[in-house]
Amino acid sequence: MKVGVLISGSGTNLQALIDHTLEQNNNSCAEIVLVISNKPGVQGLEKAQLAGIPTQVINHKDFGSRQSFDEAVHKSLVTAGVDIVCLAGFMRILTGDFVRKWNGCMLNIHPSLLPSFKGHDAHHQVLKADVRISGCTVHFVAEEIDSGAILVQESVPVYPEDTEATLSARIKVVEHLAFPRALELVASGQARLGEEGRIDQKDAT
Ligand code: GRF
Repeated sequence: MKVGVLISGSGTNLQALIDHTLEQNNNSCAEIVLVISNKPGVQGLEKAQLAGIPTQVINHKDFGSRQSFDEAVHKSLVTAGVDIVCLAGFMRILTGDFVRKWNGCMLNIHPSLLPSFKGHDAHHQVLKADVRISGCTVHFVAEEIDSGAILVQESVPVYPEDTEATLSARIKVVEHLAFPRALELVASGQARLGEEGRIDQKDAT
């Protein structure tokens, strides 16, 4: 399956996906064919280029509306023959139109155990709530932000002395395991978005 990855920043999750898909021993069903960033000059673009993956900057500031930006992204993905879209630290809210076009074919990673702590400041919310466990979630993208059927979750402890930076670093370690695993489930056809927005998963045995 051909994969397009959308990023806005450092791209450490992108790197995890690249490493997973290029590792011969993994026999991955996924091939990353395009990386799109809405921001120029971000580190993730360099990571893709180093791996020999085509990149494109589609700067949201060049567009008059969310709709026209999303249409440009959609067009690039289709032109590259993308089957599955991965949102790997993509910091733009996508229109309902775009989400519907990629329904069942678009995955997002969020740095909390959803459905708790949705939104852009998950670590802040976690620390404020004084919970003892957090983690990450990879899910199919649905129209409502940070919702959609959950494919993979990983947990980490939260310590009283944690800052957003220490918690984020601990969660990134498990994100880099969870995202490739979720992508592989979908690319191999082992899991898909079924009726009523729930996961249909084949028994691994
Ligand atoms: C990750 O924490 C991810 O959960 C969130 O954005 C961050 C992206 O980090 N959606 P990176 O660019 O992959 O390092």
